[in-house]
Amino acid sequence: MGDLFGGTAPYYAKYRADYGEAAIEHLARAFGQDSGVLDLGCGPGTVAIPLARRVREVLAVDPDEGMLAEGRRLASGVRNVRWLSGDSMKLRELPAFDHIVMGRSFHWMDRRAVLAELDDLLPPHGVVAIIGPTRDGEDLPWEPAMRRVRDEFDVNTFTATNSYQATGEHHHDVLAVSPFSSMDLAVYEHRLTYDLGAVVGLQLSYSYTAPARLGDRVAAFTEAARKELVALNPEGRWEHTAETEVLIARRPRAVDKSGQGRRLSPRSP
Ligand SMILES: C[S@@+](CC[C@H](N)C(=O)[O-])C[C@H]1O[C@@H](n2cnc3c(N)ncnc32)[C@H](O)[C@@H]1O
Repeated sequence: MGDLFGGTAPYYAKYRADYGEAAIEHLARAFGQDSGVLDLGCGPGTVAIPLARRVREVLAVDPDEGMLAEGRRLASGVRNVRWLSGDSMKLRELPAFDHIVMGRSFHWMDRRAVLAELDDLLPPHGVVAIIGPTRDGEDLPWEPAMRRVRDEFDVNTFTATNSYQATGEHHHDVLAVSPFSSMDLAVYEHRLTYDLGAVVGLQLSYSYTAPARLGDRVAAFTEAARKELVALNPEGRWEHTAETEVLIARRPRAVDKSGQGRRLSPRSP
């Protein structure tokens, strides 16, 4: 898996946009109040922390220790989130859960393998929820300027192996041929404002410009980003309407499964 997000965690926690209350509320309605939810690829708790107020328990799982540390810090006082080191290849090692949510993380995983495992692990009513921005940042007002800087530093070429850009398959295409083929999609908008420091900090939250990837060029990169941004907008203030997509996927009809999060062997006639 490597050090995909090496050193990004504090920037991610501080500068990445949240999904807005309405989108989290939508997830909570799909899961139900008395549910245990796995947030896989939880990062610093972008979903886990606001969701925790609305469900029984959240298992917040991520392979990046820096992200988990930020999550624990931000969630101080929130008692029903368990922060666990793990990843999509070790789902069977986790405590049982009723539903799963993946926020901006499914494209890092072997999507078909994960869905096949979830078919074994989720109870009959289990929901697979995917949440993330409708457009992958290309609509951000500073994106053309930041692309120039990334080109200059030769860090524009990184694409997640299982993303639409790499495979031509959207998450909903993969879900459509999985056991969780019954889907509904909702889109929510919320307005965000950014100052210059936030836009510069945001750049260090991305995998392709992660501090670990830039190495000793972090200071040079942030300086170049800052210069481009000031040239673009000397006021240093941006407004942006973030669009969040919430995809809820279920099995088309109830099948014979236990309520314990494990598949029942077929009964003999
Ligand atoms: C872009 S962040 C998303 C964080 C948060 N869920 C959100 O919605 O903002 C993606 C996260 O997925 C994690 N990740 C990468 N590969 C993973 C895998 N195979 N299994 C679980 N998590 C993974 C990364 O460590 C990172 O924290």
